[in-house]
Amino acid sequence: MIKRVLITGANAGLGKETAKQLAAHPEVEEIYLGCRNIDKALAAKSELERITGKSVFRIIQIDVCDHSSIRAAVQTLDRSIDALIMNAGGTGGKSFDRINSDGVTEIFAVNLLGHSLLTQEL
Ligand SMILES: NC(=O)c1ccc[n+]([C@@H]2O[C@H](COP(=O)([O-])OP(=O)(O)OC[C@H]3O[C@@H](n4cnc5c(N)ncnc54)[C@H](OP(=O)(O)O)[C@@H]3O)[C@@H](O)[C@H]2O)c1
Repeated sequence: MIKRVLITGANAGLGKETAKQLAAHPEVEEIYLGCRNIDKALAAKSELERITGKSVFRIIQIDVCDHSSIRAAVQTLDRSIDALIMNAGGTGGKSFDRINSDGVTEIFAVNLLGHSLLTQEL
């Protein structure tokens, strides 16, 4: 049974919608909103609490393009999670081919490498 779920990129779009729909399941106790921007995360959490009437949402600050951010985020989890929704990503806008501090393009980091590392760290 899935009780605790982590969704990356949960402050907008499909990630936020997924958080809303998961909250409707009575067995889901905690939904971790994995977001890189705390202000956007707080706004999404408030909106989700208002829409769903549930207080199951927790914020985890994570930038999926940044290995140190991924490792730090995993350290903040005090319990194991049952499911990971690897949602953060996109086409990278104008900076899709920028090389990040880990030496790979941001589009590769967010859509593949970051989530691979996150899975391994979890
Ligand atoms: N919508 C579609 O039709 C469609 C089709 C195929 C695939 N997808 C994939 O589905 C996923 C969600 O799509 P969407 O349409 O919901 O996109 P969206 O509305 O642009 O939302 C993307 C989310 O990912 C977050 N994000 C981006 N880079 C991040 C990073 N480095 N670390 C942490 N969070 C990051 C964004 O946070 P910020 O607000 O901070 O930018 C935002 O919360 C994406 O991976 C996309 O490629 C979508």
